[in-house]
Amino acid sequence: ADKKSVQINGKNYQTDSWFNTPSHILANVPRRLHLQKDHPVYITRQIIESVFPAPTYKYHNTFDPVVTAYQNFDSLGFPEDHPGRAKSDTYYINEGTLLRTHTSAHQAETFRANLSPGYLISADVYRRDEVDRSHYPIFHQMEGARSWDRASVPNEDIAVAVWSDVEQLPTHDMKVDDPNPPFHADRNPLQTDHHSAAEAEAIGAHLKRSLELMVVEIFTRAKAAAKRADPDFVDDPLQVRWVEAYFPFTSPSWELEVYYGGNWLEVLGCGVVKQDLYINAGVPNQLGWAFGIGLERIAMLLFQITDIRLFWSQDKRFLRQFHGVSDNLDSLKRFVPFSKYPGCAKDVSFWLKCTSAAGGNVKPNAHNFHENDFMEIVRNLAGDVVEDVKLVDDFTHPKTGRKSLCYRVNYRSLERTLTNFEVNDLHEKVRNTMVEQLGVELR
Ligand code: PHE
Repeated sequence: ADKKSVQINGKNYQTDSWFNTPSHILANVPRRLHLQKDHPVYITRQIIESVFPAPTYKYHNTFDPVVTAYQNFDSLGFPEDHPGRAKSDTYYINEGTLLRTHTSAHQAETFRANLSPGYLISADVYRRDEVDRSHYPIFHQMEGARSWDRASVPNEDIAVAVWSDVEQLPTHDMKVDDPNPPFHADRNPLQTDHHSAAEAEAIGAHLKRSLELMVVEIFTRAKAAAKRADPDFVDDPLQVRWVEAYFPFTSPSWELEVYYGGNWLEVLGCGVVKQDLYINAGVPNQLGWAFGIGLERIAMLLFQITDIRLFWSQDKRFLRQFHGVSDNLDSLKRFVPFSKYPGCAKDVSFWLKCTSAAGGNVKPNAHNFHENDFMEIVRNLAGDVVEDVKLVDDFTHPKTGRKSLCYRVNYRSLERTLTNFEVNDLHEKVRNTMVEQLGVELR
């Protein structure tokens, strides 16, 4: 599969032994669902943008998905051995070039350009991942940030300036649980070399209030859509909580969770920007916050879309349901699923290939199987007619120590009934490809 070069968005890239981006991914790079009018991802972007108004916030929606490993990882302080850098998790074009795994890849350059106090970046992002109804190897994120310039205030007293901006924000009456202190020496540290406690507290307050307002906006629209579908609709009062988190490029950091349908859902990650980012971007006088949110996640809640593959559907029965919503957000309706087609589950059981230890001795319990490599084979062959892939059995032979796995692949199209012949043929191809590419022994 190793080609000499690939073309992405009109540019040529040399590939090398790191190249692991399959054709089904490359084919979808130009789709950019966040720019397709009336698409649920586009509509979700519009709703969030409405909470972060121009000109304070400037919108960037066309940054190139091909970035350097430096942009995606190093510029953000990811350690050299961070698991996100592995070929099993990330789509590489070559050793130094990859498909961005998050919109944070553009933080440094956007801080450097320093065009406005705040920005929003919406973009397609790429991750090798499991296969199920809420994971797709391409999805869309929005990055947001807001900075203040020390040089712009008397005595460099930025805390006072930030608090006055907090007071300008609208209020809300949503129930918020925020049990932790604004920072914590071990769990969620203040950047003591760069920020006073008052500064970090003020920035954290502006961050939290801004993002709470975003959640209120989204769920008010979701509730209105539910009521249009069913005038008797009653929902539980909206509830959110702030949870301490860790990201290499913010401190302190948080995740926001929303109580929805009986579960706490993680909605976004955020924090006070590590000062090194501003310093390295040539704007050492700035300080502020950043957040990142997955747009499909939010769109699934807004529109009641239960399978993430639907976002990629070109079927009129999907797309026409959102017609006109971009021009009138108040007409947003819940998605009405079209009939569910029958699925077909097939198992595949196999012994893992043993890897040899130094000196050539075969070690029965040593292997280098990465589940994502298997997921990729299924996606590449079955595309969007695979609904999910689950591990159903994991067995180690008591005598030989050899390990065997069994996965269940659930084939189902969202758009039509699959024939028996078609599913058998696909599954046979999956089995053969596993032997060829992963060296496993089928059982
Ligand atoms: N990039 C992070 C992610 O994808 C989210 C994030 C963005 C966290 C900005 C903090 C600040 O998980």
